[in-house]
Amino acid sequence: MTHAMLQASYILATALFIFALHWMNDPKTARNGVYAGVAGMTVAVLATWFQPIIIHHGWIILAIVAGFAVGIPLSMVPLTAVPQRTALSHAFGGLAAGLVGTAKYYLWYQEGPENLTTFRMVAIVLEILLGYLTFTGSLMAAGKLQEVKWIPQRPVTYPGQNIVNFFLLIVALGLGAAVIMNPSATWAPQVFPAIIGLSLLFGVLLIIPIGGADMPTVIAILNAYAGLAAVAMGFVLDNKLLITAGALDGSSGLILAIIMCKAMNRSFGNVLFGAFGQVQQLKAGGEQKVYKGETPEGAAQIMEQASLVVIIPGYGMAVAQAQHKVRELYDQLKKRGVTVKFAIHPVAGRMPGHMNVLLAEADIPYTDLVEMDDINSDMPQCDVALVVGANDVVNPAARYDKSSPIYGMPIIDADKARTIFAIKRSKNPGFAGIDNELYFGPRTWMLFGDAKNVIGELVKQLSGGSGMH
Ligand code: TAP
Repeated sequence: MTHAMLQASYILATALFIFALHWMNDPKTARNGVYAGVAGMTVAVLATWFQPIIIHHGWIILAIVAGFAVGIPLSMVPLTAVPQRTALSHAFGGLAAGLVGTAKYYLWYQEGPENLTTFRMVAIVLEILLGYLTFTGSLMAAGKLQEVKWIPQRPVTYPGQNIVNFFLLIVALGLGAAVIMNPSATWAPQVFPAIIGLSLLFGVLLIIPIGGADMPTVIAILNAYAGLAAVAMGFVLDNKLLITAGALDGSSGLILAIIMCKAMNRSFGNVLFGAFGQVQQLKAGGEQKVYKGETPEGAAQIMEQASLVVIIPGYGMAVAQAQHKVRELYDQLKKRGVTVKFAIHPVAGRMPGHMNVLLAEADIPYTDLVEMDDINSDMPQCDVALVVGANDVVNPAARYDKSSPIYGMPIIDADKARTIFAIKRSKNPGFAGIDNELYFGPRTWMLFGDAKNVIGELVKQLSGGSGMH
C-alpha cells in the first residue's frame, strides 16, 4: 500500500468516526452510527496492517484473535452493566497507550540518544501518565460499579486526601520533566518505572474517594483521558489517525461528562474531589412517615379514567427489564383514548440515554418520549404520574433542601401531578442514598413490587376489564 493510499484510508476512517458520533445523536440514526464506527475501525486496522514495515503478521493475527476473545463476551453484558463494561474498554485503551509509550522509550533509548527528541519525550511522558492512570482508574471505576467485594462502593476519604493526591501528581510530573530533559542519562531508564508506578497509584487514589452515583460521570472523564493518551500515542508513533481518533474520543468524553454534570447541577471539581455519595447522617427525630399503598386494580381504574398519564421511568425499570410490559400498558391506555407520555430525565438510570434505549427496544414511538424541560410544564395538568423505579430524579428535596446531596439537580415534577403512583420494591432509598418525600405525599400511592410484575398486573386489570368504565 502506497503512502497516498494509506493517508486516504486514514481520512476515510476519520470521516467514518465523525459520522459515527454524529449519528449517535439521534435514536433513529444510532444504528448507522455503530456501523460507521465499525467500518472506520476496520479500515484503520487493515490500512495499518498492509504497511510494508509490518512483517510479523502472526503477532497481528494473535492480537486480533485475543481482541475477539475478550470483545465478544464483553458485548453480551446486560444493558445495566454497560457503564462498567465501558470502563473496562477505557482500561484496555489506557493500558495499550501506556505499554506502547514504555516500549518506544526503551527501544529508542537502546537505538541511540538522537531518537529521544524533546518532542517525542513530552509525548511519551504524557502518554504513560494518562495511559496508566486511566488503566487503574477505570479498573477501580468498573469494580465499584460491578460491586466487586474488595472495592468499597462508598467514597473512601481521609483528611488531606486532595493534598496527598496533588503531591503525588506533582512528584510524577517532576520526574517526568527530569526524564524529558535528560532522556538518555544513565539514571533515566530507572526513573521511568517510578513514573509508571506513580501513575498507576494516582489512578487508584483518584477514584477511591468518588461515590457510586458519580461513577458514570467519572467514566466519561476517564474516556476523555483515554482519548488524550491516544493523541499522545499518535504523536509518539507519528500516526495521524491515532491523533484524530484520540481527539474525537477525548472531546466526546469531555462533552458527555459536561452534559452529565449539568444535568446533576454539579461541577467537575465537585465530582472529582467532592466525595459525593458518602453515607448521609439520617436526620434525627421527625415523625414516622407513612406510606399509602394501592392495589393494581385500584390504580388501573384511576388510570383508565385519566386523560393524560405521564410515565416516569428510572433505574428500577432497567433492573426489572419492565420496558416490554410498559409498552403493553401504553397500548392498553392508548386504546382507551388516554394520552400517554414518557418523561425522560437526562440522568435517569445509570448511563446517558439509558431510558431512551430501553423504551426504543420496546418500540415505543420517539414522539411520546418527552425531555424533562418540556414535560414539566404539563405536570400540573397531568392526571396520573406513574413512577416506574425512579427515585432521585423525582425527589422534590433537590429543589429546596440545601443539605441534600442532590440539591440543585433539576428533577421531573412528578409531585405536581393530580395523582402519583410509584412502583418500587421496598422502602430503600435510590442511588444517592436519601429518602424521598414524594412517596409520603398526600396524592401519592405506592405500588410495592418488582416493576415488571406490578405493570404486568396493571395490564391484566386493564385488558381483563376492557370497556367496563
Ligand atoms: P435511583 O435513584 O437509583 O432509584 C431507582 C429506584 O428503583 C430505587 O429506589 C429502587 O427502589 C427501584 N428499583 C430497583 N429495582 C427495582 C425493580 N426491580 N422493580 C421496581 N423498582 C426497582 O434511579 P433514578 O431515579 O433513575 O436516578 C438515577 C441516579 O443515578 C441519580 O442519582 C443520578 O444522579 C445517578 N446518575 C445517573 C447517571 C446517568 S448518566 N444516568 C450518571 C450519573 C449519576 P427499591 O430498591 O425499593 O426497589
